Amino acid sequence: MSSHLQAVQSRDVRMLGINPNHWYVVLRSTELGQQPVGVTLWKQPIVLFRDRKSQVHALEDRCPHRQVKLSHGKVVGDDLECAYHGWKFNTSGNCSEVPYLAENQKIPNCQIRRYPVKEQDGFIWLFPVHVNGLNTETFTETLHVTSLQQPMGLPEWEHLNYIATVAVINCQAHFSYLIENLMDMYHGHLHQDYQAWASAALENIKEDDYRVDAYYMAQSYYKIDKIWSISQLFFPALRRLHPEPLNVSYVYPHWVSTLGQDFKIYCLLCPINETETKAYLIHFTSLNAFWRLHKLPVKFRRFVKESLFGSAQKLLDGLVRQDIKMIEEEQQAYLQNPKIKSYELNRTLVSVQKLIRSQMAKLAELE
Ligand code: FES
Ligand SMILES: [Fe+2]
Repeated sequence: MSSHLQAVQSRDVRMLGINPNHWYVVLRSTELGQQPVGVTLWKQPIVLFRDRKSQVHALEDRCPHRQVKLSHGKVVGDDLECAYHGWKFNTSGNCSEVPYLAENQKIPNCQIRRYPVKEQDGFIWLFPVHVNGLNTETFTETLHVTSLQQPMGLPEWEHLNYIATVAVINCQAHFSYLIENLMDMYHGHLHQDYQAWASAALENIKEDDYRVDAYYMAQSYYKIDKIWSISQLFFPALRRLHPEPLNVSYVYPHWVSTLGQDFKIYCLLCPINETETKAYLIHFTSLNAFWRLHKLPVKFRRFVKESLFGSAQKLLDGLVRQDIKMIEEEQQAYLQNPKIKSYELNRTLVSVQKLIRSQMAKLAELE
């Protein structure tokens, strides 16, 4: 075991940070319009804004003049203007204008940090890579690192055969509690009223340095094989239990799951600090079984996809509410007594904690 891993092993997983050398999700595309928006990704305040071509940029959310948040300002052309005294910053994070500069004064050389950012599959992905220094060279290096990795992405987002529903998770808990909740399919017990899945049984686990895959067999309530069967999302009385494979994966730092052929769910994470996590849960219902539908004009299929967007909203919001309640209670119990021992029987959670630790150890190696 490397000394870095040893050092990380000795720390409580609930206190561990994130490995910033990955793409995180900070916003939905639709949440960023003409006004700048401030977000926090692992204690880093970041301002996002769109230029005249609607391209997204991400800068440190801090005006170097008086340290107030740039996200209170507005976008002027391709620059971001601070609300306080109107200094402007370009997309590279350099001060480009001070409105009251005297003739004998120069624009201050006060560059702020910028982050690689991408808009893809309905979300804004940000790479908070760990670098020292703020110069252009460092940024170019960062871009090189990010080009080696791509955001996980959601191939179903644009695909005409999938109907999406999005729920937001804002929970007062460390991200490890959320991932553990998502990887432990025995908690179907909590969601009995929503009839999502039942009787999960863990069959196998695979793990490597970047992911944990857990394979369960479960009973699914849904079978989406006839066009009317989509109404099972709204009417529980139409659902019938039948066995399906239920696979869940922690693809660091995100999560993805499939239940049989009909459902795919992603959870895209934006950990905020040790006791706060934001995430987006995206549920896709597959229309793959409807071959007749696939013969219809693309325009019509797009209309079907868009009209059914959000059809699982009630279900998803209900599941999220129940999960958040449990996760936040776990966090509270931990804060009250960090030493208390839990009795865990699902070995998937051991693998999850191991992955969180090994990702932190990778970061420590770079330092
Ligand atoms: S604090 Fe931003 S311009 Fe003065
Ligand atoms: Fe759940």
